[in-house]
Amino acid sequence: METIFSGIQPSGTLTIGNYLGAIQQFVEVQKDYDCYFCIVDEHAITVPQERLKLRNNIRSLAALYLASGIDPKASTLFVQSEVPAHTQLGWMLQSISYVGELERMTQYKDKSEGKDAVSSALLTYPSLMAADILLYNTNVVPVGDDQKQHLELTRDLAQRFNNRFNDIFTVPEIRIPKVGARIMSLQEPTKKMSKSDENEKGFISMLDEPKKIEKKIKSAVTDSDGIVKYDKQNKPGVSNLLTIYSSCTGESIKSLEDKYEGKGYGEFKQGVADAVISVLKPIQDKYAELINSEELDHILDQGAEKASFTANKTVAKAKKAMGLGRVKK
Ligand code: TYM
Repeated sequence: METIFSGIQPSGTLTIGNYLGAIQQFVEVQKDYDCYFCIVDEHAITVPQERLKLRNNIRSLAALYLASGIDPKASTLFVQSEVPAHTQLGWMLQSISYVGELERMTQYKDKSEGKDAVSSALLTYPSLMAADILLYNTNVVPVGDDQKQHLELTRDLAQRFNNRFNDIFTVPEIRIPKVGARIMSLQEPTKKMSKSDENEKGFISMLDEPKKIEKKIKSAVTDSDGIVKYDKQNKPGVSNLLTIYSSCTGESIKSLEDKYEGKGYGEFKQGVADAVISVLKPIQDKYAELINSEELDHILDQGAEKASFTANKTVAKAKKAMGLGRVKK
C-alpha cells in the first residue's frame, strides 16, 4: 500500500478553505493509502505564538481532524513535536538546502514582507516540511494549491540527498483537488482565505455557528451584474462562492449556474450558506464530544508512537548515509 502524509498548522481555528483544500481530501484517501496526518506545531512557532493559545489550537486541530472523519484505525494522527525525528531530519535537510532557494519561496516572501524581526526558522521552514514528508517514505502529499512550491522543493531535496549520499528517499507526488484547491477570502476574493486573516469576515471558521456562517456569506463581496456565473477574472467573488458551494455538495459548477439562472445573489448566497452549514454542523457536533475526551489523548499517544517507529528508522538511515554518529567497535 502506498503512503500519504500531510500536515496542518495549529495556528488558529481552521477555515472552510483548509477543510475543502485539505481535510476533505484526507478523508477521501484514507481507505486506499497508509496515511499519516500531522499537527505541525513546530511549523507554527516560526512566527510568534501565545503559549496557551498554541496548546489549545493543537488539541482543537486534533479534534477537528477526527470530527471531519479521520479514522484513527485507518490513519495515524499525531503531533509533530512529539516525534523528535522531524527536527532531526529537518536539520540534516537544512544542511543541503540553499539560502537562495529558500528565499525564493513565495510564502516566505509574503510572511516576512515588511517585518523587522523575521525568525530564521521562517526561512528554513520548507526544509522541515520536506523532513515531515520524507520520514515516512511518502508517495503522495494531498495539499491545497498554496503548498505546490514547497512540494517542489521537497522533491528537489529528496533527489539531491539521494544523489549526494545514498538513495534512501522516495520522491513524493503532489495531490491537489480539482475544485477547492484555493478558496479565496470572502471580503477580498483575489486573496487566499486564511486562518490568520485579521478581518474575521474574510473567512469562515470550521467552528463558526450557523448564524455567523450565514451572516458572513451574505456579506461576501460579489459584483453588481447579478448573474451567477463562474468567471474567475471578472467575477472573483461569485466564482469563489460557486467553488465553495460545489465543493460542499459535490454538484458541478455548471449545474449550479443552471440552477441559479435568472435568480438573484440573495437566493444564491442562501444556497451557499445552507451547503456550508450542512457540511460543518455535523463536524461541530462531533467536535464538541471529542474536545475534552481522554479518547483524544489516547489516539494522539498511539499516533506519536506509531509515527516514531517509522520515522526513527528513516533518521537512522539518513544519519548513516551522511556519516553522522559513530560505528561502535
Ligand atoms: P496550512 O496549515 O497553512 O494549511 C493546511 C492545508 O490547508 C490548505 N489550505 C487551503 N486550501 C484551499 N484554500 C485555502 N484558502 C487554503 N488555505 C490553506 C493548505 O494548502 C494545506 O494543505 N506548510 C503547510 C503545513 C505542512 C505540511 C507539511 C503540509 C507542514 N508540513 C507536510 C503537507 C506536508 C501549511 O502551512 O499548511
